[in-house]
Amino acid sequence: MREGTTTLVRREDYLAPAYWIRTADLTFDLDATKTIVSSKLAIERNSALPVQPLRLHGEDLNLLRVLVDGQSVSFRHEDGLLVIDAPAADAFTLEIRNTISPEKNTQLSGLYASGSGLFTQCEAEGFRRITYFLDRPDVMAVYTVTLRGDAKKYPVLLSNGNLVEQGTLDGGKHFAKWHDPFPKPSYLFAVVAADLVAREQWVRTRSGKEHLLQVYVTRGELDKTEHAMNSLIASIVWDEARFKLPLDLERFMIVAVPDFNMGAMENKGLNLFNTKYVLASPATATDVDFDGIESVVAHEYFHNWTGNRVTCRDWFQLSLKEGLTVFRDQEFSMDMAGSPSARAVCRIGDVRALRERQFPEDAGPMAHPVRPDAYQAIDNFYTATVYEKGAEVVRMMNTLVGREGFAAGMALYFERHDGQAVTCDDFAQAMADANPASALAQHLGSFKRWYAQAGTPRLNARGNWNAEAATYTLTLSQQLPDTPGQSGKQPQLVPVALGLLSREGQALPLQLQGEDAPQGTERVLVLTEAEQSFTFIGIGAEVVPSLLRNFSAPVVLDDGLTDADLLVLLAHDSDAFNRWEAGQRLALNRIKAALGHGEAVQLDAPFVEAMRSLLREPGLDPAFKDLALTLPSEIYVAEQISDVDPQRLHTVREAMLDQLATALQADWAWAWDEHQVQGGYRPDAEQSGRRALANKALAMLVRAAALSGEPVWPGKAYQRFKDATNMTDRLGALEALVGAHHELAQPALERFYALFRHEPLVLDKWFMLQARAPEKNGQVFAQVKALLKHPDFTLGNPNRARALLFVLAASNPAAFHRTDAAGYVLWADKVIEMDAINPQLASRFARSLDRWRNLAEPYRSAAREAIARVAAKAELSSDTREIIERALQD
Ligand code: TRP
Ligand code: ZN
Repeated sequence: MREGTTTLVRREDYLAPAYWIRTADLTFDLDATKTIVSSKLAIERNSALPVQPLRLHGEDLNLLRVLVDGQSVSFRHEDGLLVIDAPAADAFTLEIRNTISPEKNTQLSGLYASGSGLFTQCEAEGFRRITYFLDRPDVMAVYTVTLRGDAKKYPVLLSNGNLVEQGTLDGGKHFAKWHDPFPKPSYLFAVVAADLVAREQWVRTRSGKEHLLQVYVTRGELDKTEHAMNSLIASIVWDEARFKLPLDLERFMIVAVPDFNMGAMENKGLNLFNTKYVLASPATATDVDFDGIESVVAHEYFHNWTGNRVTCRDWFQLSLKEGLTVFRDQEFSMDMAGSPSARAVCRIGDVRALRERQFPEDAGPMAHPVRPDAYQAIDNFYTATVYEKGAEVVRMMNTLVGREGFAAGMALYFERHDGQAVTCDDFAQAMADANPASALAQHLGSFKRWYAQAGTPRLNARGNWNAEAATYTLTLSQQLPDTPGQSGKQPQLVPVALGLLSREGQALPLQLQGEDAPQGTERVLVLTEAEQSFTFIGIGAEVVPSLLRNFSAPVVLDDGLTDADLLVLLAHDSDAFNRWEAGQRLALNRIKAALGHGEAVQLDAPFVEAMRSLLREPGLDPAFKDLALTLPSEIYVAEQISDVDPQRLHTVREAMLDQLATALQADWAWAWDEHQVQGGYRPDAEQSGRRALANKALAMLVRAAALSGEPVWPGKAYQRFKDATNMTDRLGALEALVGAHHELAQPALERFYALFRHEPLVLDKWFMLQARAPEKNGQVFAQVKALLKHPDFTLGNPNRARALLFVLAASNPAAFHRTDAAGYVLWADKVIEMDAINPQLASRFARSLDRWRNLAEPYRSAAREAIARVAAKAELSSDTREIIERALQD
């Protein structure tokens, strides 16, 4: 297993399985050291294919016996497969017995120990680490599972579906038998054996059926499950209302697991969750955590239809379920947020994440299409491209066919494919067929290139006003950059939502040449060619175009707008997304200029005044103000330039923050006073927006105070830190002190540790906060190195490793990219150390150096050297090997 097979799996090599598994009867004799798995499979030959040996997947298994129809047979091991030469009958029963060791399973894939319990994680290819099987998503079986184990250690025994029998056994043991009536692929299989308690709730769905909902956690955590349960109920209600998709199970369970590689897993009827996405109380979780729980609970629940009822034919189709389900959870979060401005805040958050994670991916060595063509390790393709860009592709379909049309497309998709394992093409086809008159159906081939071509399209837009004819002609062109293994790309269908504003900020009626009358003040142009022009008539004066409203396509836009144009949009655009975007671009222009001439930043009055009036604007959503007054991140800026010097970029951005802090001091003080929350804590959009803006104001005030030596605001921050009644405010105040490197930060950090040392998820925040502090003279990096030796630090728990190491390497460029290369040395050491424990985690961490080629010297050469050092290790998992090899490929 350590060497991993470094063979490439190709999409075009897909073949249907040679055998089907109709039913799987599994018995587990559970024990952390040695679990015995007995499997009885009803197998049928796929008569569409020539007779051939039965090849079963298996990994890290200890095989005890193999019987075909009750008789022992000869078998062999070949390339990690168990091969049984052509069984005589077309249908037969295969019985296998093997053992596995959950406590030795540090990869957290298959059956593993976490805390005092046993849990499974089978997506993508973890089931083969439990027993021999056709571990591929197009083989779907009906499972019956018997769990036997110590009644004291494992009082709770869970698997998918319905509990059909339970009872006691000799020797202090007990058993439970579960049956899942829905045929499912092995990646949706799950088992839990642990000492847990559950919050329970019965709900009645529209059909009148009653369902039992359960949220399982370790003893003592029950008071942190209310929000997860509420989120689950809201998700059930939403999916029925918006898509008419009902809960199809009598029982729906969520189980929180402390050691977990990802966010959560949608196993049929038995979702397993990272504790981070279940446990929340106002005292221990921030508004951001509450939000994360709501969307991850929704995401996994929505998979029950988009993923489980209709699943993927093969793993190249991963975005079929992930892109669609992310789109669904984004829409859910927006509907939950409510007001138009709260929806815009959600959208801005989603786009920021896309730009900071997916755009760099699309520009780096791991660039791949939404539907990849080849992989070495499928776990490396649970990416921002498959998830977030995939969701943008679905969102563009929604834009093109409209909300009703999209619902019709979904209905047709389920009508055609319920119970099947299908492809991305099948989904796009259903959308197009349900909307035959749409631009999607008319240009389906051009649209589907979004699935096939990697890279972020460059959209160029230039407007030309003709005073005499009173026309405004907008010329749009697109260009798709080369990516590893792909060049000479074709144009894709790009929906461009737009409005035109007068220079005074008035929205103008839009009438294209050839139309009888204006059609509103906003519309969607559909670009299908490399270049196209659109002429608006009745335009009597110069205009300011507001393009790509609400970010209608995942592209990089070059519209040539001047600062004066952007100030008009910032002040007047009716599209909240583009108002925010105008502010970001004004800030970016200033950062770029400062980087260009190597001088100190001197913010100009028009920009400062625009920021001030935005902050003071009555009636504007505080959450929106918080976003609009946040400067583009160093990660985002780094993607807009080449030869990045992370130290210089940090210096420039910090200087801008200092100026905004000082110039707007009175306004920040006003914002702090004005946005205090009265009354009990609620994690809703309204309250969390106020807290976000107040905490931003506090951070700016402490920053300004640290510059002037003024003691009042740091004192107030410390007071707030001590007295806060919720984690958002406590952490906000602590972060204000830590972010300004104030002398009160250290005592506050110590106090925080003493208060929360027994709360793992809060301790993660303590590590994270220190790892993401703005770097100053190498202090942050030194602190991270010290924290690596802290008794509470471990690489064995993914959340803890992420809190310290991933945050340093992926989110704190100035602390990580050092002229002495110490960050890269640490990176290489930890990639190697992590890889021996948990390859999935290690390969994700390895990706924090993906963009090394975009760095200036001396960073670039030093980073290359560190990557080469990892590449030289003979013992690397195929996961990490794939990332490292791609990073070095020319
Ligand atoms: N299907 C899960 C989701 O998106 C992702 C996931 C959970 C996963 N655990 C995993 C993917 C382990 C790969 C490996 O909701
Ligand atoms: Zn998912």
